[in-house]
Amino acid sequence: MKIRKAVFPAAGLGTRLLPATKSQPKEMLPLVDKPVIQYVIEEAMASGIDHIIIVTGRGKNAIEDHFDVSYELERILESRGKTDLLEQVQAISKMVSIAYVRQKEALGLGHAILVAKPLVGNEPFAVLLGDDIIDAEVPCTQQMISVFEKHQSSVLATQIVEGPDISRYGVIKGQAVSDEFSGRTYRVEDLVEKPAFSEAPSNLAIIGRYILTPEIFEVLERTGADKGGEIQLTNGLRLLREKQPLHAYRFEGKRYDAGDKLGFLKATVEFALKRSDLGSDFADYLRQLRF
Ligand code: G1P
Repeated sequence: MKIRKAVFPAAGLGTRLLPATKSQPKEMLPLVDKPVIQYVIEEAMASGIDHIIIVTGRGKNAIEDHFDVSYELERILESRGKTDLLEQVQAISKMVSIAYVRQKEALGLGHAILVAKPLVGNEPFAVLLGDDIIDAEVPCTQQMISVFEKHQSSVLATQIVEGPDISRYGVIKGQAVSDEFSGRTYRVEDLVEKPAFSEAPSNLAIIGRYILTPEIFEVLERTGADKGGEIQLTNGLRLLREKQPLHAYRFEGKRYDAGDKLGFLKATVEFALKRSDLGSDFADYLRQLRF
């Protein structure tokens, strides 16, 4: 079955980026000149997905406004003859049609997926977390879809994380599978959300891209809350694995943690350096800095 739909959980508070996120959604912080959520939605679209579902919450209206038509701004740009900017602004609202659903309480990632159930229905779908920005030749979601098509199971994105940082992630225990994806696919044998470093089952961290079969909904409905009162997607996947095979895929590409201050800065610098209109001037500027 083709993957047509993607869910973007965007109800999180963004506490790691305070105070910038006190009154604006973390998804709207700009990497160079584009909000982070737009990068992730563009990745989904470039992977052949045309149904976008954003799970929002209180204080997230700026996301809806960003992807909506802005008549006032368009009229002003038009009257001032700023055609380039006008085209850019119009392209955003024409890009894609988006359905929004509200997660009324911050009950975790698993719960966020569950509130999207009526909009997803009974078909496999993608989940993309806006904190993870992935720069890749073939969009990460497209790579994941290829693995899904091969194995017809849910697929999690994974990346090697060395050292104690592993305890900031969901971690899988997996067996490498021999398929055409050159040693990058694993059959998942177990997974655990944010284990202590000493208890991590491997150095394979779960990164925010998932292809999920619709059975995940039934499983999440019976996944209990963790100590912090949240329904974790990782714990739901653990139950799903008892019913059907689950795979992880070590994607090709570079991932930035845009939900973290240092990760956000790294992404900003590298994305700016890649820009044809800014890169070389910015590189000159960085080279002459003394520190
Ligand atoms: C979530 C998931 C975690 C995963 C991470 C990837 O955690 O719960 O399993 O490793 O995303 O970014 P969060 O960073 O939202 O706490």
